[in-house]
Amino acid sequence: MNKASNAKRRQLVVGNWKMNGNLHENADLLVKVVAGWQGEHNADVVICPPFPYLIHTGSLLSGSAILLGAQTTSEHSKGAYTGEVSASMLADLDCKFVIIGHNERRRLQGETDEQVARQFIAVQQAGLIPILCVGESLKDREQGRQLETIGRQLDAVFAHTGKDVFNNAVLAYEPVWAVGTGKTATPEQAEEVHRFMRAQLGELAGKVRILYGGSVKAHNAQQLFALPDIDGALLGGASLDADEFLAICRAAD
Ligand code: PGA
Repeated sequence: MNKASNAKRRQLVVGNWKMNGNLHENADLLVKVVAGWQGEHNADVVICPPFPYLIHTGSLLSGSAILLGAQTTSEHSKGAYTGEVSASMLADLDCKFVIIGHNERRRLQGETDEQVARQFIAVQQAGLIPILCVGESLKDREQGRQLETIGRQLDAVFAHTGKDVFNNAVLAYEPVWAVGTGKTATPEQAEEVHRFMRAQLGELAGKVRILYGGSVKAHNAQQLFALPDIDGALLGGASLDADEFLAICRAAD
């Protein structure tokens, strides 16, 4: 795909398996995905399995162009944090990307903007690339406050990191009301927010990849990827089906 306005930004498709799969199903899915993504491509593809399957997934991806990622990480580097996984442990397992601030973690685990900012720093300190998720609730959207919410979520990270570090980060816009619901933002809604997010990045505005996430499927991916400020997708459900996932990767390619 050729978009004049983002000619220098490679498209990126990230599959977030969430808490799904088992050894058998994962192997089946990964063999199909790897077989369908041979050779050279113009898009990057990342798969983020649950922690226990990172090594297995990594070994099935090895030799392919598909990269490994994780779904979250601790803000701490080590110590007495039962159940947590540090970013350096993820680097040890060959992860290249870590999703942070996903709305399921903000809502269900109570992660705050400040924690997300500290996770962002921990990920970069381990030499990995954070995929920072932001997005408004349905209520925010209904009240027309989507840009205010997203601006606040971004500022919370900028306040700790500055903006320069975003040359090594990815952003993802995921409207909470669109994740796992089958409702996708319209191209106009998505483009408005992406343009806003890009503007918040100041000097890096043209350089940072900004993904869209929320019920992206093969049938709507092409339309979203054609928008000038959208550089790929963060997929949940669609990443669990090899044909659907590959069709979206090809649309980004
Ligand atoms: P969905 O999830 O594609 O199933 O809506 C997206 C996400 O949570 O990243």
